[in-house]
Amino acid sequence: MRINFRLNGETITTEIEDSMRALDLLREDLGLTGTKEGCGEGECGACTIIVDGNAVNSCLMLAAELDGTSVETIEGLTGSDGKMHPVQRSFIDKGAVQCGFCIPGMIMSAKSLLDKNDSPSKEEIEAALEGNLCRCTGYVRIIEAVEDAASIIREDRK
Ligand code: FES
Ligand code: FES
Repeated sequence: MRINFRLNGETITTEIEDSMRALDLLREDLGLTGTKEGCGEGECGACTIIVDGNAVNSCLMLAAELDGTSVETIEGLTGSDGKMHPVQRSFIDKGAVQCGFCIPGMIMSAKSLLDKNDSPSKEEIEAALEGNLCRCTGYVRIIEAVEDAASIIREDRK
């Protein structure tokens, strides 16, 4: 079948198999390997993308379900001027990255939260990231990074 959707601001038209996962369309057909596959069963969040503003597990989504949507992946966060999104910058500045495997998914979940709420409480950040597992860093620094990104976003909006 043929689908059309917006991907990181560009219009994509592509042929897919009916049973193809969104994760495989992104990584294999479109070459966007920033989105990771961990568990493949909705448990780890490594495959998180944003679809119509909401963070979703792309391993559980059919590519066909992307038809007509607007999709953001980690590749779309850095501006054309090379400037990182505040969430990306804050993860680095706060030392919230070790092996990095979980980070694209963490960042997409955090971005989805901050797009809707630029003053989240610690509990709201924890809730937004509860589907994202990290085996290395520990969540204290990750939560600090999201709080830092929120303060940068609030400053930028002044
Ligand atoms: S790879 Fe999708 S949730 Fe783990
Ligand atoms: S930084 Fe290694 S799994 Fe999170």
